[in-house]
Amino acid sequence: MKNSASLLRVLAAQLISFVLFEVTLESDGQWAIEKYPVIWAVLGIILLISIAIEIAIHALNNVLFQSLDDAAKERYLAAQAAKKTTQFSGIKRLYKKLLDSKPVEEEHEIILDHDYDGIKELDNNLPPWWLYGFYFTILFGIVYMVRYHVFDGPDQTTEYEMEVAEAQKAIEAYKLTAKDLVDVNSVVALTESSDLAAGKAIFEQNCVACHKSDGGGGIGPNLTDPYWILGGGIKNIFRTISEGGRDGKGMISWKQTLKPSEMAQVASYILTFEGTTPAEPKEAQGNLWVDPEATQDEAPIEETPEPENEKVTDSTTVAMK
Ligand code: HEC
Repeated sequence: MKNSASLLRVLAAQLISFVLFEVTLESDGQWAIEKYPVIWAVLGIILLISIAIEIAIHALNNVLFQSLDDAAKERYLAAQAAKKTTQFSGIKRLYKKLLDSKPVEEEHEIILDHDYDGIKELDNNLPPWWLYGFYFTILFGIVYMVRYHVFDGPDQTTEYEMEVAEAQKAIEAYKLTAKDLVDVNSVVALTESSDLAAGKAIFEQNCVACHKSDGGGGIGPNLTDPYWILGGGIKNIFRTISEGGRDGKGMISWKQTLKPSEMAQVASYILTFEGTTPAEPKEAQGNLWVDPEATQDEAPIEETPEPENEKVTDSTTVAMK
């Protein structure tokens, strides 16, 4: 008994220190013991110390016991034995109570008359642990029915939708902190002057050779007019920068060089060219861009038709708008 009690105490010490570590150490959703493997070592030391303490106490008891005279030894042993019989008596009593079965000696009181070839039946009470569980299910059923069928609590679909909406909010919040998550579907024109300044710097560094620093165009088309070969608007411009222009025209894909946030910045900067008058503007190329989102609420990103003729300068496209 002494040994099993010591074992329990040692295990308890381990468990308590483990729980304390997990509860007190900040580990961002991870197990603390995974994040700080040194905890293993600390737990090991605690294990050694608690074993040492148990051994020391045991040895001390032994020495004290040996120092007793015979009568005292006997009294001590008797006390120990008495302690053992009353050990866990509360738990044992509770266990019996939850079973509520008749002791074997009293079974004759509850035996039923049937006798099936020598097999007899006892009329035991329902075990209280089972009975209370059964009452609980009835109570649960009533509460459930009232909550969901009388007062129309949220059903699975609604709960699902609520969770999705919450997650959506969390994603939005996360996207605000993680700017590089923008892609062609989520990009919006940035208006912060810091973003536009960054876009300008990127443009000056990478794009002016072909588009001129005022966007007037050279090898590349004029970016200041409302005519776009590959589609205007933030999404199309972002896609052109990210994926490049048509094969062989000279506009490469920039997604290997620029981060998504940088492409969004330079695309937003390009939008600020519109309406300015560059020093040597290149003639308009492509189609007049009408923002579909200005008229429709939910505009899918524009599929830009491959223009047959680069230099669409006739007036029909304008008139058709
Ligand atoms: C080597 C020259 C060159 C460089 C450098 C260059 N471009 Fe271009 N760009 C072009 C050409 C050529 C086109 C036309 C592509 C086509 O016709 O398919 C173009 C088209 C574009 C368009 C679409 C214009 C339209 O009318 O649809 C945008 C937007 C654009 N470039 C932005 C940029 C940005 C931003 C950079 C810098 C990160 C850049 N370009 C760097 C040559 C260049």
